[in-house]
Amino acid sequence: MRNPAPNAAEPLFNNQAVSSARALPLYMQLAQHLRQLIMGGAINDQDALPAERELAERFSVSRVTVRKALQSLTDEGLLQQRQGAGTFVSAPPRVEQPLSVLTSFTEDMQSRGLTAGSVWLDRTTGTATSDEALILGLSLGERVSRLRRIRLANGVPMAIENSVVPSRFLPDPGAITGSLYDVLRTRGHIPHRALQRLSATSLSEDHAKLLDTQPGSPALHIERRTFLPTGGMLELVRSHYRGDAYDFVVELQLSAPSIPSRHDSEAGS
Ligand code: GLP
Repeated sequence: MRNPAPNAAEPLFNNQAVSSARALPLYMQLAQHLRQLIMGGAINDQDALPAERELAERFSVSRVTVRKALQSLTDEGLLQQRQGAGTFVSAPPRVEQPLSVLTSFTEDMQSRGLTAGSVWLDRTTGTATSDEALILGLSLGERVSRLRRIRLANGVPMAIENSVVPSRFLPDPGAITGSLYDVLRTRGHIPHRALQRLSATSLSEDHAKLLDTQPGSPALHIERRTFLPTGGMLELVRSHYRGDAYDFVVELQLSAPSIPSRHDSEAGS
C-alpha cells in the first residue's frame, strides 16, 4: 500500500453523490462515484479503501449496497479485495501517449516519472515465419530474435509486446535485460522512423490474465514497423495495450488546401 487509507471522514468522499432521489440503483451511484475518484487520480493505485462499515455510514447506505458497489468495481478490475486485509485500488497509471514521436516504452515511462519494467515470456531465436519474412523483407530461412514480454509501469502491467528483430541486428536476445532500443542504438542500429497501426480489440482470457485484468476488457492492438535511417526494417512489433491505461494523442493541423486563401474569403464576403 503506497498511501495511507483515505479516511471516510475526509471530504474526498462526497456523500451527495449517492441519493435515493435519483433513479439509478444506489450501488451503481456509489460505484460511479468511486470509479470517478480512481480514474481521476484522487485515489491512487494500491490505496486502501475505508472499511465497508465506514463507507456505509459515510454514504448513508446499507453494507449490502457498499458490498455490491465494491464487487462491481472488482469485476471491472479497478479494485482488489484481499482476504483479511481489505479492499485496494488496482488501477494502472493512465498514460497520455503522443503518436507523432518515435520513443521506446522505457523512455515513455521515464518521461512520466514512472519506472519501466518487463516480465519476460519469451526471449529466443528462430527462423522467420513466412509472414515475418515478408514484412521484414527477409529471405526464407533467415533467423530472427523474438522478444515477448509484459511491459510494466511501476510494477503494473500495461501492455504485452511481441517484438521480432532480424538476427543480423540482434543475434543474442538474451542481451536485452532492459530497453531494446538502448541495445540496438548502442550497436549502431538506430530506430529512425516507424509506421504504427492501432485497432480496437478486447482481451482474451490469456491476455487478460497476463495484464492482471478482466477477460473482455477493452484494449488496443498495435502493430509497429520500425525502420533504420537507411530504410531497412529493424523490428516488427505486435502488442496489446490496456484500454484503461492509455490515451493516444495526436496533434492535427489544417491541411494546406483547407486553409482559406485570401481569394476565397474575399469571394465569400
Ligand atoms: C515501444 C514500442 C515497441 C518497441 C519498444 C521498445 O513499446 N511500441 O515497438 O519495441 O517501445 O521499448 P524498450 O526500448 O523500452 O524495450
